[in-house]
Amino acid sequence: MLPTSLLQYNINVSSQRQNSNISVVKENISSESSDDKSIINSNSPHDDTSTSNSEILNRLYELSQPERKLILASASTLAVTSSITLILPWTCGYVLDTAILEATTTSDQQFSPFTIALGLFGLTGTAGLGVYARSLMLNIAGNRIVSRIRRRLFSSILTQESAFFDQTKTGDLISRLANDSYFIKSAMTTEAVGGLRGIVMSIGSTSLLFYTSPKLAMVSLLSIPPVFLMARVVGRKLKKKQKNVQSSHAEATDAAEETFGGIKTVQLFNNQELEYNKYANTVIKAHDKEIDVGRLKAAFDGVVHVAANGSVLLVMGFGGTLVLGGELSAGDLSSFLMYSLLMAGNISSLSGTYTEIQKSMAAAGRVFDIIDRIPKISSPLNEKDTTNNPFEHVESISIKFDNVGFSYPTRANVPVIGPNFSLDIKAGENIALVGGSGSGKSTIGLLLSRLYNLDEGQILLNGQDISELDPSIVREQIGVVSQEPLLFYGSITDNIRYGRPNATDEEVEEAARKAHVTNFSDTLPEGLETQVGSRGTQLSGGQKQRVAIARVMLKDPPLVILDEATSALDARSEYHINQALKTMTAGRTVISIAHRLSTVKEADKIAVLKSGKIVEQGNFDELIEKKDGSFRRLVEQQLTG
Ligand SMILES: Nc1ncnc2c1ncn2[C@@H]1O[C@H](COP(=O)(O)OP(=O)(O)OP(=O)(O)O)[C@@H](O)[C@H]1O
Ligand SMILES: [Mg+2]
Repeated sequence: MLPTSLLQYNINVSSQRQNSNISVVKENISSESSDDKSIINSNSPHDDTSTSNSEILNRLYELSQPERKLILASASTLAVTSSITLILPWTCGYVLDTAILEATTTSDQQFSPFTIALGLFGLTGTAGLGVYARSLMLNIAGNRIVSRIRRRLFSSILTQESAFFDQTKTGDLISRLANDSYFIKSAMTTEAVGGLRGIVMSIGSTSLLFYTSPKLAMVSLLSIPPVFLMARVVGRKLKKKQKNVQSSHAEATDAAEETFGGIKTVQLFNNQELEYNKYANTVIKAHDKEIDVGRLKAAFDGVVHVAANGSVLLVMGFGGTLVLGGELSAGDLSSFLMYSLLMAGNISSLSGTYTEIQKSMAAAGRVFDIIDRIPKISSPLNEKDTTNNPFEHVESISIKFDNVGFSYPTRANVPVIGPNFSLDIKAGENIALVGGSGSGKSTIGLLLSRLYNLDEGQILLNGQDISELDPSIVREQIGVVSQEPLLFYGSITDNIRYGRPNATDEEVEEAARKAHVTNFSDTLPEGLETQVGSRGTQLSGGQKQRVAIARVMLKDPPLVILDEATSALDARSEYHINQALKTMTAGRTVISIAHRLSTVKEADKIAVLKSGKIVEQGNFDELIEKKDGSFRRLVEQQLTG
């Protein structure tokens, strides 16, 4: 059920917010991006340097803190498994030397290599258990971390302002939630512990190399410095390229999301091929970039492989000479070679780990870009500022637009409202906004709800500047039936209850009845429990409008905005619903936006909007009598068709 899951979600997030580690992270964030003008641009050239590796590592470390016991426990198994692995070459050397000695000096052979092998097999079994435990613990920790990152990312996305969503592709956000956060998981668990294992094993085998033959050890380590240098260069390039790869994947997700969202339009225009090509191009672009990254990684892997094995061969040649000169026993050389092989293997795997971690860093950077973004209109999920709520128990609200000027941030140079837009609406008044398409009627509703910040002027509700109030308190006072009502996946009941999650079943049913939802839901086998489909696609336009009206009726706020709320209804339903709305909104402030001018007759006041400015105000009779008046012209145009 929708409300329950929302509640659960809130609980999770709030428990997360109590976590001190996380608040430390948040604090760090604030100073980083306070002047975030750009929304987020994963392709911007400076993006790569926006969050440095050490910063990202710090952040990842913070995020992994709740799982530190599991990660430490899994890392501690390394002590057992690595020691056992490191014992093997030494024992092999010992077995070889003792066997050679016994074979050449005594006839009565007591030495049993088989017993030693059996003993070691027991130890290997223990190591196997250690590997099992490690793998399991890492899996649990990794999944917990990725789930935590996703929740934080989602909560951060949810609290962003409307303009952010105007400018950000949905697919890009989904990709960050799904792909990028998943990428981080491996960096923080498997790769981190794999890397630690590589380091422990490399240190262990190097120490044993020095223990066995310091001279030979020096020779075998000759390949390390060039590999290290190359790793630094490659790592930097990889991170940059991988960030590009991730944004290409995001483009592909976005293309798919757009296509599925508008599948009916695609089919109606027979544009499947066009959509296919759009998607295919993005996938091919991502593929090419992946190959580019793969090439770099492959070249690095190849060089590391040659360097690692080259050092083994160097040991073989130089060590063989030492054995010939009697400076080293055959057993020691064989142990040495095995340690060299171990070291070579570990350096190779460390290089793999390193490149994977660099790739994850790129993904982490994309995730933190959003987690760190400070919304321009702050409305945190659980931190409502209720100390300043001037609307407690008010029935209706007065509205004052005072010299307002506004353009949408995506088109900052196109004024939509104003300049100097002023309008007074008394508490309890019923005002109709009319005007041509694109004149700014819906925008007025969005500004009132503070979905966007004003460029100039103020909006006062009951004398209070809305920019000084918590946006959630402002929105609590307003019920909007928007022009294109959007329903969510779930039942009709779920969608109505969205207006007031704690409403009782009876209240939901009553709202459904008043908004004439029951008129159609009663004919469906599951009644109000009927599923509406993704975005409400299984309902007709007029049915969706009725559910949206019921949702607002249930919310029953002091200020109601009806934006073409009944435009898709037949005249009879419209009449009945308008009657119900009238009863419900009695004493409330109502702003109704309507194209059908016949429906605005009963409004206390009509304001005519043209290019974001009010050109006429008055009641129906006053305006209709104005010869050459805008309203009269609109009505005449509508009557003459
Ligand atoms: N999110 C947005 N970003 C940029 N411009 C926008 C956005 N939404 C609307 N606009 C522009 O703002 C102007 C006013 O739009 P608005 O939706 O307020 O018009 P309206 O009067 O409600 O029109 P209609 O009667 O067609 O619903 C239009 O020119 C529109 O293109
Ligand atoms: Mg509109």
